[in-house]
Amino acid sequence: MTLNEVRQKYLKFYEGQGHTVIPSSSLVPQNDPTTLFTGSGMQPLVPYLLGKNHPAGARLVDSQKCFRSMDIEEVGDNRHTTFFEMLGNWSLGDYFKQEQLPWFFKFLTDEVGLDPQKLYVTVFIGDEKNNVPKDVESAEIWKKLFSEKGVEAEVVEIGSEENGYNVGMTAASGKEGRIFYYDAKKNWWSRAGTPDKMPAGEPGGPDSEVFYDFGQFKEDGQAAHDTKWGAECHPNCDCGRFLEIGNSVFMQYIKKEDGTFGLLPKQNVDFGGGLERIAAASENKNDIFLVAHDSIISQLEQSTGTRYEDNVRAFRVIADHAKAAVFLIADGVNPDGKDQGYFVRRLLRRSVLFLHKLNANISITSVIPGIIDLYKEQYPELVAKQADIERQVAIEEEKFTATVARGTKELMRFVGQESLSAENAFQLVTTFGFPLELIIEEAGEHGIKQIDIEGLKELLKKHQDLSRSGSEQKFKGGLADTEEKTVRLHTAHHILLKALQIVLGPEVHQRGSNITQERLRIDFNYGQKMTDEQKKEVERIVNEKIQEGIPVIRSEMSLEEADKLGAEHEFGAKYPERVSVYSVGPLDSAFSIEFCGGPHVTNTGELLKSGSRFKIQKEEAVSAGVRRIKAVLE
Ligand code: ALA
Repeated sequence: MTLNEVRQKYLKFYEGQGHTVIPSSSLVPQNDPTTLFTGSGMQPLVPYLLGKNHPAGARLVDSQKCFRSMDIEEVGDNRHTTFFEMLGNWSLGDYFKQEQLPWFFKFLTDEVGLDPQKLYVTVFIGDEKNNVPKDVESAEIWKKLFSEKGVEAEVVEIGSEENGYNVGMTAASGKEGRIFYYDAKKNWWSRAGTPDKMPAGEPGGPDSEVFYDFGQFKEDGQAAHDTKWGAECHPNCDCGRFLEIGNSVFMQYIKKEDGTFGLLPKQNVDFGGGLERIAAASENKNDIFLVAHDSIISQLEQSTGTRYEDNVRAFRVIADHAKAAVFLIADGVNPDGKDQGYFVRRLLRRSVLFLHKLNANISITSVIPGIIDLYKEQYPELVAKQADIERQVAIEEEKFTATVARGTKELMRFVGQESLSAENAFQLVTTFGFPLELIIEEAGEHGIKQIDIEGLKELLKKHQDLSRSGSEQKFKGGLADTEEKTVRLHTAHHILLKALQIVLGPEVHQRGSNITQERLRIDFNYGQKMTDEQKKEVERIVNEKIQEGIPVIRSEMSLEEADKLGAEHEFGAKYPERVSVYSVGPLDSAFSIEFCGGPHVTNTGELLKSGSRFKIQKEEAVSAGVRRIKAVLE
């Protein structure tokens, strides 16, 4: 089945079950400053999952365009793409497990025609700590559904990653399993990940995934499983034998302010299915590019005179990136140097580069008509915007060509040398935007025999980690938005943490935070209730630092240097090798230093604009050993 066929069948099937078809939202979230792109089908529907009434009713179905920027470097295997469509059906307080699982199973087996013998499912093993029971109900529903198709479904308690998933495919009975219980790492879904990672107010729930089995052996007869992914294969293994094609999230919980879970006002279903993946399963092809990008690939084969089999990675990168760029530009994101535009620029430059690798003397714009042709039924706006998309791509391609020309000229300065140092190569890459692959090629052609690639890679990695941490941290750090008032409270938050350490002791560290325009909230480890005197003293210190008008400075440094300076970081957070650090005061005499992506005011005196006084409104327990303060500038 083609993408269009699967999408149509899906929308129709759920329409038949009383769902209203809603259009895909933009790839750029409209009212959500916390994230740059729409990366899942549920994102635009969060307010409704939290309880708001949706104008189209309580049963919705759609195919949502998604873009995952974190996957850019991953593109190249048989299943990862930056752009994809997520099929979604939602019950907003309407049906639940008893309807959801049978419908999806019916859709896969009767509508798409998948062999039930090739389907494997997973369910949630339960979480005692958070009082979420084992999902026996889903397991029982699955058992019955398989049995109706004549498939005996054995249950496997595979559990957690800590045991290496060593149980593998085998049930206690010795037979091969079909229904697998995994822990929260695999069978819990929220935008933030596992229950522990969810901030207060975030909805989530246990989920049940369906996997398609491409078989124990690959076409060439080799075993599909590679032990580098673990001793035993299992549905959630990364070896590529199994492909996850759909996930039913039973969204019924919400993280409460005190860290425990409460129930959402209504029980919801949030289902997400990979359109491209289901199409690949329907063709039994363990390569989604051959199904979801096939017309782009044939066109590339023709125009470049090379074959997909001989250049798998380059073809996949070009096809994915060009497609993603087309959809992003259609949603109003033009290539440039910041935010969403930066990703479009990267996608296009990488595609041009990979075209170059194929020795193809064609423009990346030449694949655009093929992409639009593939999608014009579902997204007619692409046709209307085609000329603009082609123009944007052509401009970026031209700029990049000019960059390469400048870089080549710069490189000529080093002709005559035996080797190119890591620092010089780094400068070519970062200042001139000259891609490493081209440097190697051009240098070789001009007699420069050696390049310190290892040294360069190290410098580049540091640089990349830093920019990544910048963009990730930008909207994290518990900030609800980047309005001025929120930013002022963010700086107040840094001063407050230091004041708490002065008053309560240096062992106090941050355990969580959340900042809105109205107030800041900090969670920190401390065993008792704070006394009134302690609170007063903390307030006094914070107000003093605001009055002093101290500059707030951002610095970039290695993780090691930051640690040496005693920079504060959040418990359990992982940081790259190069980090962004904010200090209240110059680094050598700072009042406070924290790992942080910002944003902050430039001087603590600016906090006075939000009010004349910092005040603690509430101090309370969140859990054993963790306290919470809510504070305002009033
Ligand atoms: N929201 C779920 C996901 O993105 C369905 O996987």
